[in-house]
Amino acid sequence: MHSAPPRGWCKRDPEGKREVDETSALPGNCPLEATGVYHIDFRPLADKEVQNDNELPRHGQRESTENVRMNAQVWDRISESYFEEISTPFQAEVVNPLLDYLDGLPGRENLTVADLGCGIGNLLPFLAGRFKAVVAVDFSPKMLSAAQENCAYDNVQFCRQSLTDLAVFQGQFDVAVTVNSVLAPSLDVVDQILRGVAGTLKPAGILAGIFPSMESVLHEGGLILDWERQRSENEQQALRRAQRKTKTSCYDFIAGLYTEGSDCQKFYYSFELRRRLQKAGFRGLQFGKVLYPWHKEDGEIRFSSEPRLWDWFVRATLSSGWSDRG
Ligand SMILES: C[S@@+](CC[C@H](N)C(=O)[O-])C[C@H]1O[C@@H](n2cnc3c(N)ncnc32)[C@H](O)[C@@H]1O
Repeated sequence: MHSAPPRGWCKRDPEGKREVDETSALPGNCPLEATGVYHIDFRPLADKEVQNDNELPRHGQRESTENVRMNAQVWDRISESYFEEISTPFQAEVVNPLLDYLDGLPGRENLTVADLGCGIGNLLPFLAGRFKAVVAVDFSPKMLSAAQENCAYDNVQFCRQSLTDLAVFQGQFDVAVTVNSVLAPSLDVVDQILRGVAGTLKPAGILAGIFPSMESVLHEGGLILDWERQRSENEQQALRRAQRKTKTSCYDFIAGLYTEGSDCQKFYYSFELRRRLQKAGFRGLQFGKVLYPWHKEDGEIRFSSEPRLWDWFVRATLSSGWSDRG
């Protein structure tokens, strides 16, 4: 019964069609003349610094180049109608604590921040106006082109790169921001990305991330069930109706995955996200919520007196002594 798609989720590609973009040439820190996005020259990595396959978890599988390319093409298509397809923390009436947090970071004007999975650049002007340098990373050429149009600041560099391959940014960032961009349906890939994000940070670096919440899905489902109980002949009928409206059959509640057609997206339980981030090397985790407004269903807002749906807002650092830089 989502009047809008779930957070971070996009209604897309219902028939599983994928266009082939011959100009795509991931992976790697590749030149981007074709898209008008320019190549970024980061400090060359010594051989020993480059993450090698031995450092992957025992069950870890590096995502194939072809997979990465296909995924980037799906996001390319979404870039053209972003706000119609994506439920985002940057839409109207959302309470987004990330902004206050970043705004309040002491000394931010001397810091380098990365927006990992920057999309069409919703956050970039905000970052560019507050931080010394901004690195906008995405693997979708069209997202990056849109981002570049949306943010003409001199202190922003755009880089086409997969989040599964962040070694080129090893130890470069004071702050890594990622907003609903770690959505891969493979837990191996999720863990690989989180470890890669940790690797991009300087020793006292900070992660400020937003992740789709699985608990929020359960919260909404419970509300719908109670609502249906008041209108159904019996509890079994109410349950069936609630399951249909919440698309229960689309969810894998253990893996935290939502699948619709050929699309599959990761959602996170807070305890799971905590564990994954700790495993990736983060410490001092603090959780908050990005709150979404209730939408009208059949002309009414049913749950306006109930807590709103949310994404997780997470702050963390690499160092064990969390100081919030404050
Ligand atoms: C839901 S959008 C969020 C965009 C932006 N952070 C925002 O909130 O407006 C997800 C973005 O992550 C990017 N993305 C997803 N997986 C990625 C990956 N493996 N490497 C690089 N970018 C990725 C997509 O191209 C898309 O731009």
